[in-house]
Amino acid sequence: MRSRTKRDRWRENQDMERVHEPDLAEIAAGTKYLCGEWCERVFVQRAPLTLELGCGQGMFAVELARRFPSTNVVGVDLKGHRFWRGAKAAHVGELLNGAFLRARIQWLDHFFAPGEVGEVWLTFSDPQNSDKRGTKRLTSPHYLRLYQSMLTEGGLVHVKTDSPEFFENTLRDGPLAGMVVEDSCADVHGAAPGRFAPELTELLAFKTAYEERWIQEGRSIHYVRLRRGVELGAAQLAEAKRMLQGPPGTSRPTFTTPAR
Ligand SMILES: C[S@@+](CC[C@H](N)C(=O)[O-])C[C@H]1O[C@@H](n2cnc3c(N)ncnc32)[C@H](O)[C@@H]1O
Repeated sequence: MRSRTKRDRWRENQDMERVHEPDLAEIAAGTKYLCGEWCERVFVQRAPLTLELGCGQGMFAVELARRFPSTNVVGVDLKGHRFWRGAKAAHVGELLNGAFLRARIQWLDHFFAPGEVGEVWLTFSDPQNSDKRGTKRLTSPHYLRLYQSMLTEGGLVHVKTDSPEFFENTLRDGPLAGMVVEDSCADVHGAAPGRFAPELTELLAFKTAYEERWIQEGRSIHYVRLRRGVELGAAQLAEAKRMLQGPPGTSRPTFTTPAR
């Protein structure tokens, strides 16, 4: 049997109830999508949301939904054909607490309301080591401020990475964004037994395809957990959004071709 093309995957995504692929140009123009309404309109239970941002194939998001049935999980990625695999697994496995969203993370506040998100996972994000302005690396202060603005009180951002630079940059930028570094470990799989709480130990043991590849190359896997800290000032949040989304009234960033 021939393997599925991108087009096959996009087509199949359209038939899956909990796959959301809103028009990105409309979002950039200011439209909100399901913002504050995920529990009522997508899921069958009221529960805090957990997001996996830049979920790729989405298999970690599926794992989160399987392990924590009383949590609602949304995998977010710009590429719908990538998360097709996770969406299909959630659909076939009837995971009613798992959904996928095709979106640019820069526009996250158009999808999630303040206090709607309990936890964020960033797994093996592109390190973007030369991102001086903080508009590309997903743990720059601008992005962390954006996430904080939708986290519940005590909400968490978990980061798992093979990149020592991404690890160090996240440790540096968490406090700059007003977050508290709750835990950090430079070698998750080499850590002593009992280093993490049992639930987290099991979750960190789950490996995505990316992670398997990096481990085979001999890299250590790093983990950071940040907790929502001080209340963000309106000016700081506005600045973060201006940096990531462009000034009001402009069309930056533009979407001349569909981003799929
Ligand atoms: C290196 S992959 C990691 C995939 C997955 N988390 C894993 O561990 O297997 C990074 C993913 O982030 C997505 N991504 C990067 N920047 C993004 C952005 N600004 N908005 C949405 N998705 C983004 C890419 O499309 C890609 O699928």
